Amino acid sequence: MPSLFSSAAAVACCILVPTFASSLSSTGQTVVLDGVSFYVPAESVATLDASSLPRKVKAADLTPLTIISTENFGYSAEDFGAAVSNFTSTDDVFSAGFLESVFVQYVGQQSYGRRGFSPKLSNAENVTSVWSSAVTGNNSIPNGPYFVSSTGDVYEAWRLYSDFTGAFSETLFPAADGTFSILPANLPGQSLAVAVPSRLYYTKTADKPLAGVRLGIKDIFDIKGIRTSNGNRAWYRLYPPADETAVVVQRLIDAGAVICGKMKTSHFANGEVPTADWVDYHSPFNPRGDGYQDPSSSSSGPGAGAGAYDWLDLTLGSDTGDSIRAPSNVQGVYGNRPSHNLVELTGAMPLAPELDTAGFLTRDPLLWADAAEVLYQGNISFPSTHPNRILASGFPTEASAPGDELLINFLDQVTAFLAANTTTIDLPSAWSAAQPSNVTASLDAYLNLTYPVIIAQQQIKNVRDPFYADYAAANDGRKPFVNPSPLARWAFGESFPPTQLAEENRKRKVFSDWFSSEVLAPNDETCSDGFLFYVGSKADTKYRNLYRGAPKPPTGWTDAMMSTFGGGPDFVVPIGDATYFSNITQHEEKLPVTVDIMAAPGCDGLIYDLVRDLVGAGILKSSVAGRSNVGGGEVLLRRDAEY
Ligand SMILES: *[C@@H]1O[C@H](CO)[C@@H](O)[C@H](O)[C@H]1NC(C)=O
Ligand SMILES: *[C@@H]1O[C@H](CO)[C@@H](O)[C@H](O)[C@H]1NC(C)=O
Ligand SMILES: *[C@@H]1O[C@H](CO)[C@@H](O)[C@H](O)[C@H]1NC(C)=O
Ligand SMILES: *[C@@H]1O[C@H](CO)[C@@H](O)[C@H](O)[C@H]1NC(C)=O
Ligand SMILES: *[C@@H]1O[C@H](CO)[C@@H](O)[C@H](O)[C@H]1NC(C)=O
Ligand SMILES: *[C@@H]1O[C@H](CO)[C@@H](O)[C@H](O)[C@H]1NC(C)=O
Ligand SMILES: *[C@@H]1O[C@H](CO)[C@@H](O)[C@H](O)[C@H]1NC(C)=O
Ligand SMILES: *[C@@H]1O[C@H](CO)[C@@H](O)[C@H](O)[C@H]1NC(C)=O
Repeated sequence: MPSLFSSAAAVACCILVPTFASSLSSTGQTVVLDGVSFYVPAESVATLDASSLPRKVKAADLTPLTIISTENFGYSAEDFGAAVSNFTSTDDVFSAGFLESVFVQYVGQQSYGRRGFSPKLSNAENVTSVWSSAVTGNNSIPNGPYFVSSTGDVYEAWRLYSDFTGAFSETLFPAADGTFSILPANLPGQSLAVAVPSRLYYTKTADKPLAGVRLGIKDIFDIKGIRTSNGNRAWYRLYPPADETAVVVQRLIDAGAVICGKMKTSHFANGEVPTADWVDYHSPFNPRGDGYQDPSSSSSGPGAGAGAYDWLDLTLGSDTGDSIRAPSNVQGVYGNRPSHNLVELTGAMPLAPELDTAGFLTRDPLLWADAAEVLYQGNISFPSTHPNRILASGFPTEASAPGDELLINFLDQVTAFLAANTTTIDLPSAWSAAQPSNVTASLDAYLNLTYPVIIAQQQIKNVRDPFYADYAAANDGRKPFVNPSPLARWAFGESFPPTQLAEENRKRKVFSDWFSSEVLAPNDETCSDGFLFYVGSKADTKYRNLYRGAPKPPTGWTDAMMSTFGGGPDFVVPIGDATYFSNITQHEEKLPVTVDIMAAPGCDGLIYDLVRDLVGAGILKSSVAGRSNVGGGEVLLRRDAEY
């Protein structure tokens, strides 16, 4: 027998004594069905004819309900059994407990006599009350699990999950009318609860290609009615809830995506390392391996969530200097830094507008490609021919360290797949061999200060100064708290004259022109004259329980700067995992092995095409949620009881 407990009764107002202006509204309730917690929203989605309700339903405040549609007038217990097994295999919200009452809707065209539509399901397993009705197709309620009140009001079932990696900063309930509110629910396990609706309510269509896709949003993008934190507590408190939703977020909502919440970011999207840098909020936990590796920053919330939760489909992050790519690398998920300027950023906090981009982190490469068409809208095209030239940076030639063999095999497989001419490249040497004629400095010397000066001088102007002024005005001249890392970066930026910004941007332009002519050039037929592959991660450890030195400005050269300065797309693909010995668990554990794929600016569709083809050929696979990106498994050291 299913058991249903209501743990917080909805409050309805009954006695009206209008002596002062009070306001009372229900925020829904939580219930527990067979040991699983659900959020039941305050608003019903439909009302069933009360007179037709089975006696058992009329007698209870709330009854679990399964709604099912059929066009088959002779609907049988066998058909029903097939549908139930389909529900069970496709939806994590549905469970046998919802079969306590079943409402079957006939949505077919057949006219019927006085006996009406009356499927015989009384022998179906676990079903106790069945009733049915014929409805016009337009009025049918989507299939799936619900709760029904004694008066016939039908409420959606939103399953509650524990955010045990601390990936979310605030979890949300998106109402059908487009408004958002803070999810008023909780679970055991010292974490936020996240609510997700049944997958069965949604059908993907051309208009709604992301219908029902569960989405988390990095907390630098505005969502109307909700405060943004940018990772900073003073900011969260100072500014009112956003009055507009960021353009790219709105696009995803319009395409049908369901936003579960805001996800953690380091302070103002700067680089921070656990644990001392993360003063205002605790860094999320990387679910892979021993569970105590750095989740990276600044899209670490999206990265940790995408890596940990099979109930979360897609997350939106931002990348200025590696902020989507690095969390994707260390969590072993797909992640795209788009070509600069192809994805609209209105409504997102800037780090440096000339470098900022917004993209996804996700386990599913095909969903990733479908969602990209919404993310980029008109700004993406898919060339019909692929280049057959690959430049490989940092790949091992013989297997001596964990992950080497996977990297070598992957490069061989893609080379064979594209019948490509694959050659190695080391960017600093390539620069020295053919650098711009009027430049004498080595690559790392020439661009040493470019990134730290651009981000700091831009963020001081666009974010810090207005924030400090607003905060002082509201707090009697006080200064807000800011974490050590952005403070160190801003101080570094201020140690140069303001004219240094233009000088560093000039050097960046020299680099991107050089990169477009010497490394990855545009091509009329294939968009880019080649791909550049570099090693993303190979089971490298970065323990989060180490005491490190004070944060420093991010000077120097890394391969990640190729696309940051070059402006082209840079996509992370997970290719496997490799073993290391954890000095936390004193046991062998596994961490992701990943590759970054680049192309010429504007050729994002080309990489998505390649990824789709490599998935089709079995060379790339979906990343798996849990302890390993290949084998899954329970995340170690999680603290909630339920799994
Ligand atoms: C479940 O039903 C949907 C919609 O009819 C169908 O597309 C899907 O293939 C079915 N899945 C399974 C596992 O039977
Ligand atoms: C009936 O309920 C039991 C216990 O919850 C469950 O194991 C079984 O799968 C259910 N049958 C169906 C058809 O859902
Ligand atoms: C129901 O939907 C059909 C097909 O979309 C449409 O032609 C018809 O007008 C709709 N009927 C009503 C009553 O809205
Ligand atoms: C497409 O790119 C242009 C400039 O590159 C940008 O201004 C515009 O916002 C982008 N459009 C979309 C739909 O993102
Ligand atoms: C492969 O590319 C390299 C470097 O661009 C070039 O020197 C070589 O001729 C190419 N080989 C083939 C077989 O095309
Ligand atoms: C080198 O020359 C190019 C082209 O004239 C110019 O754009 C660039 O700024 C120069 N670089 C330096 C370092 O002077
Ligand atoms: C880069 O700048 C830092 C800080 O000013 C300096 O310590 C370092 O030596 C520089 N490196 C290069 C290669 O110029
Ligand atoms: C764990 O291993 C890392 C990397 O090898 C090392 O830096 C760190 O000191 C070790 N910590 C402990 C507690 O042994």
